[in-house]
Amino acid sequence: MTESSILSLPNTVSSVLPIDVILNGDCISELKKLPDRSVDLVFADPPYNLQLAQELWRPNLTLVDAVDDEWDQFENFSAYDDFSRKWLTECRRILKPDGTLWVIGSYHNIFRVGTILQDIGYWILNDIIWIKHNPMPNFRGVRFTNAHETLIWAQKEKGSPYTFNHHAMKALNEDLQMRSDWNLAICSGGERLKKDGKKLHPTQKPEALLYRVLLASTVVGDIVLDPFFGTGTTGAVAKRLHRHYIGIERDPDYVAAARERIENVYQVEFNPPIFVTPDPRKETRIPFGSLLENELLKAGQRLFFGPTGEVTAQVLSDGSLEYTRQTGSIHQIAKLIRQGPVNGWDAWFYLDPDTSERRSINDLRMMIRKMQIPGKE
Ligand SMILES: C[S@@+](CC[C@H](N)C(=O)[O-])C[C@H]1O[C@@H](n2cnc3c(N)ncnc32)[C@H](O)[C@@H]1O
Repeated sequence: MTESSILSLPNTVSSVLPIDVILNGDCISELKKLPDRSVDLVFADPPYNLQLAQELWRPNLTLVDAVDDEWDQFENFSAYDDFSRKWLTECRRILKPDGTLWVIGSYHNIFRVGTILQDIGYWILNDIIWIKHNPMPNFRGVRFTNAHETLIWAQKEKGSPYTFNHHAMKALNEDLQMRSDWNLAICSGGERLKKDGKKLHPTQKPEALLYRVLLASTVVGDIVLDPFFGTGTTGAVAKRLHRHYIGIERDPDYVAAARERIENVYQVEFNPPIFVTPDPRKETRIPFGSLLENELLKAGQRLFFGPTGEVTAQVLSDGSLEYTRQTGSIHQIAKLIRQGPVNGWDAWFYLDPDTSERRSINDLRMMIRKMQIPGKE
């Protein structure tokens, strides 16, 4: 969905779907007020139900600032499961049919949450392990250092189309396919919100984590719902990436802190080439023959196989190539020469008459694409 299409949402929807707001209240009752099938993504960082039985002390006798907040307390597993089932069910109702949901958790809760979300109809797409560069040690030395959290990524309905920006993820990872183990530091330093020198929130997530989640699974203008908004990390990153957010948080102090934080986020002016990674699978198909029709290449001209080397083929007037008395498409002839699968657009090069240098025929395809966009020369 584009940013302009959000702005032109029918009034009936936009009047009941608040956008770029933080709703102060209990998530179950606030979720119940939101319309069916209206958001593109849910990111949820729910209470972990850590059940800390005693205070944690470091060897130097300082007290560990652990998560012992009232919002993380549940009477027993059954109470936690009831709560999880309720918010997951509401989120599923509010998600669009092609929407997806992310939940982050630790071993204390993620397996329970995973079972429930499968039971109520979500379909798991991935689980991601967030490996923390700088985890808290196990001070008592009785277990392994807990150095990761798990994210579950699930779609509302099995088999529906959904957004996964494979090319953006690959580009973010220096042209290697992004894997399911993510190495990211915990939130610290200037990013960590503080009050009177102390952490404002015990579990503020790093923006880098949300950046990857939103870049992978939303497009510009999408609406992201976070029912456990805390300090508003999801909203801050959504604003940076030109996505919309709806946050729900029951603690008014966190709501105020999140509002101020998002207000101060610097948003680079929207410009499609900066925020939209082109997806070749969605681009208009350009047949090789268009290069001849548009006089970017001429019949009889020779193309080179690769940026170096002496192998060439001749361009025929119908857009096929001739190579050693065999004719075929740019893909067929490239496959014949390579003796294996190859995309002809990447394989063939022409001689630029101005510079006498070889250039990829992909550059010519891009010129035609630009000619097809209204207003572009
Ligand atoms: C794990 S923290 C989320 C932290 C957040 N991701 C961030 O980066 O700051 C969970 C948050 O959910 C809130 N919360 C817990 N139970 C809630 C409920 N029933 N309704 C709304 N908010 C709730 C807590 O106050 C807490 O801020």
